[in-house]
Amino acid sequence: MVLPRQRALKHVQVREHVRSLIEQLPAGAAAPSERELVARFGVARMTVRQALDALVVEGLLERIPGRGTFVTQPIEHGREITSFTEDMRRRGLLPESQTLVARLEQAGPGVARALDLSVADPVLHWKRLRRADGQVICVEDAYLNEVLLPGFLQHGTPTSLYDALEARGLRPTRAEDSIAAEAASVEDADLLGIAVGAPVLRHSRRALAGDRIVEVSRSVYRHDAFTIYRQLES
Ligand code: GLP
Repeated sequence: MVLPRQRALKHVQVREHVRSLIEQLPAGAAAPSERELVARFGVARMTVRQALDALVVEGLLERIPGRGTFVTQPIEHGREITSFTEDMRRRGLLPESQTLVARLEQAGPGVARALDLSVADPVLHWKRLRRADGQVICVEDAYLNEVLLPGFLQHGTPTSLYDALEARGLRPTRAEDSIAAEAASVEDADLLGIAVGAPVLRHSRRALAGDRIVEVSRSVYRHDAFTIYRQLES
């Protein structure tokens, strides 16, 4: 009988073996196949999959549907400004969004200050529930400078905000991010399906395209469904 502890060690053993292999491979190279690893370690396919999943989540491997698992391209200095869609795809998860609010509003004092506008200037408010592989993991509020994006969100919502900004030459090139632990508010708890006061991770961003402030956002993640990975260099 295989004890749970031994099984856990096997999974770590496979993961660390693959990690040392891929350290020597160029970006884009194929990862060792599940079949190879099953044969080499004499473990169940599930154990191998679990080991590879961990490396996908760490950002060392990426799954390309219909093609296989590959060594990821290194993120330049770990400072890339990623969208939710890109972040989830990189983890091998399917991103989805559900729009809760998409309307033209007048900027309140906080949003006006962050977007460098005046109070009551027009802003686009886009609130979405965001899913990864079908599970709700985040509720995201974004405010956009309407002057830069005339007519945006008026004829339906795009799948990805950053793709839509890119199409308009407004993809963020700079961002100020802050990440903090908080207790879930009544509204966020309800949307995320967690208890009021449960821990959440709040990610706030102010994003600029060149010197134009395009977006301020507040993304609230379930603490049990999201980990932030950073590759740092000095
Ligand atoms: C991340 C950022 C948000 C941004 C979003 C866009 O979550 N923190 O500021 O609005 O990505 O994601 P997408 O392009 O998938 O709509």
